[in-house]
Amino acid sequence: MARHEGRVLTAYGGPMPETSTTVPSPRLHVVDHPLVQHKLTQMRRVETPSERFRQLLSETSLLLTYEITRELALQQVEIQTPLTTTSAPELVDDPVVVSILRAGNGLLDGVLRVVPGARVGFVGLYRDHDTLEAVEYYCKFPPMEGRTVIVVDPMLATGNSAAAALDRVKAENPEAIRFLCLLAAPEGVASLHSAHPDVDIWTGAVDECLNEVGYIVPGLGDAGDRIYGTT
Ligand code: URA
Repeated sequence: MARHEGRVLTAYGGPMPETSTTVPSPRLHVVDHPLVQHKLTQMRRVETPSERFRQLLSETSLLLTYEITRELALQQVEIQTPLTTTSAPELVDDPVVVSILRAGNGLLDGVLRVVPGARVGFVGLYRDHDTLEAVEYYCKFPPMEGRTVIVVDPMLATGNSAAAALDRVKAENPEAIRFLCLLAAPEGVASLHSAHPDVDIWTGAVDECLNEVGYIVPGLGDAGDRIYGTT
């Protein structure tokens, strides 16, 4: 994983010119693993069909989860192996995963393959096409007081949906919150950092910019449409 020290990796792996929206932050983690970058490129291709897109997203989310869970707390427990008793580490708690509907569900199965014991919450948010503001239509959480919560959404665009979801999650008093996405716009990173400076972001890449209708450029289009074959 490339900790974001002093530079932003663009989608192409090169440094991005520094602007007010790309100020380096120790709270932004760009996962520059070759497999993540390769799969992301396949997902960007307009000709990649939904079935393949879903498969790639699931594989990529598994790899991203491996990185985002790196600092989960461990405790030593006494166990019996076939040969002897020993002390060995295990997770203190499984994290809770919160999916921002609907595109967040494309990341869920990869996350759950790595942390199968995680409980899952959902926040339903859609983007008002005129204002680009997030509008909530559904929310259901498991208990998450004192837990680590990973909020997932493939695209961090304006940051409005992510910030609204994090507001809801914070009201449940978790111990820590992390945000996981596949692709981020510099504007979304800046906006989420400003609304929730205590939340670290993990992403596969930071792209160039948002266009005038709030899509990430070069991006991969509408993640929900790409996952589910809608238009
Ligand atoms: N949501 C998407 O699905 N794609 C974008 O480019 C921006 C927001």
